Amino acid sequence: MKFAKLTLASDYKIGKIDKRVYGSFVEHLGRCVYGGIYEPGHPSSDENGFREDVLELITELQVPIVRYPGGNFVSGYNWEDGIGPKENRPKRLELAWGTLETNEFGTDEFMKWCKKAGTSPMMAVNLGTRGPDEARQLVEYCNHAGGTYLSDLRKKYASALPYDVKLWCLGNEMDGPWQMGSKTAVEYGRTAYEASKLMKWVDPSIETVLCGSSGWHMKTFGEWETTALDIAYDTVDYVSMHQYHSNADEYLENFLAKGVETDSFIESVIAALDYVQGKRHTKKRIDISFDEWNVWYHSNGTKFEKWSKAPHILEDVYNFADALVVGTMLNSILRHSDRVKIACLAQLVNVIAPIMTEDGGKAWKQTIFYPFYYASKYARGYALQGITETSKYDTRWYSDVPDVDTSAVISEDGEELVIFAVNRDIKDSITLETKLCDFEGFVPVENIALQDCDAEDINTKDCEKVKPVSKELPELDGKMLRCELKPMSWNMIRLVKRKD
Ligand code: AHR
Repeated sequence: MKFAKLTLASDYKIGKIDKRVYGSFVEHLGRCVYGGIYEPGHPSSDENGFREDVLELITELQVPIVRYPGGNFVSGYNWEDGIGPKENRPKRLELAWGTLETNEFGTDEFMKWCKKAGTSPMMAVNLGTRGPDEARQLVEYCNHAGGTYLSDLRKKYASALPYDVKLWCLGNEMDGPWQMGSKTAVEYGRTAYEASKLMKWVDPSIETVLCGSSGWHMKTFGEWETTALDIAYDTVDYVSMHQYHSNADEYLENFLAKGVETDSFIESVIAALDYVQGKRHTKKRIDISFDEWNVWYHSNGTKFEKWSKAPHILEDVYNFADALVVGTMLNSILRHSDRVKIACLAQLVNVIAPIMTEDGGKAWKQTIFYPFYYASKYARGYALQGITETSKYDTRWYSDVPDVDTSAVISEDGEELVIFAVNRDIKDSITLETKLCDFEGFVPVENIALQDCDAEDINTKDCEKVKPVSKELPELDGKMLRCELKPMSWNMIRLVKRKD
């Protein structure tokens, strides 16, 4: 018998949800920048070449931060190539992805775009082929008010006012052999320590993110975090983690269970960070920047012309099952909101993204757009520590996978409660029975679901097969809220406190 029970009490809080967990990522990769956010000559583009149809969709997502310019790209990037008159900017071989980088779009364009998109930049510095010197110079270019060579250059080229970039990533995936200038944990720890120190000497108000291992399955994972963090502890604020789920073996029940690996990964990173804190006998706690996460596998092996500009790479067309996995990853992020302070859905447009475009044509919402949209819109406030009891299942890879995966959030003013639930069961509906211990006066006002789709259903520019449906409000009987979750479905139930 399949079942799901959840008990919620308003005082049992996991932590305040940092709004930066609804971040995203724009890399100079494929058509994320060129043909994604930037396409001069497109009918919807403004005088800067920023696509306004794309901006509209991004605005819907309410993304508070956007990481830029990479990713693997940043490890070979000369930021100076992307400033000044466009006609003087050099074309470069981009070694991370084997493409041509024209540098038409650079730091100044990104800052302008962020303003228009209503978001804040999270910049990454190159600690692969470059080092602390170029990193602190970029901070000076961006954040120093004026009166120095670099800050005056910014004033001359683009902006009288400093950009005031608050968040900085110290390189990207530095333990990956695919990374330009990859390093051992000791080499990286020293480089990051010095880079962060100099960057903060330029602007003490910034926060920096140390690269964790590039993945949970890396041989370096664990040892990398503890070694590099121990060296860099005093000058950094967060450690990054990256996770992409794939469905390479097309085994649906197994794929839908992938969110349990997100829980385990986050908890392992917390353990590594806390180990270093304990060892150093310090009060300073390091939290997590989950600055790349998503599903990624559909586009594996896509062929493209080497050294071409903005080829179609990593353009995963997401299906319904992917949206459910993204829903469980969001639940996991919310359930760890005491330690995950930053998270970036990778990426934002075209490249493993919730938004797709065609060159010169439309922009549309991929299936994964929706769970992100609803979490970003409504899961603001405090994550609640729900007590869950649910039937479970086993797959070849995982045991005891909850049939129903949940998270719950109470708004900052305590007037609104939101429950997110994914029913992983591919055959049966399951009734989610939620005991609301002390939510007197709360009534359900919205019940939204992604449901009744085939796992492979996708959205295209002309047809949105996977989209939210508004359902009948769930039954509230005293303290007990009962909501039917269709097989293979993502659900959001919203309750508000009656005013009378
Ligand atoms: O997001 C795509 C790539 O995935 C990034 O460039 C890299 O950091 C990761 O391996």
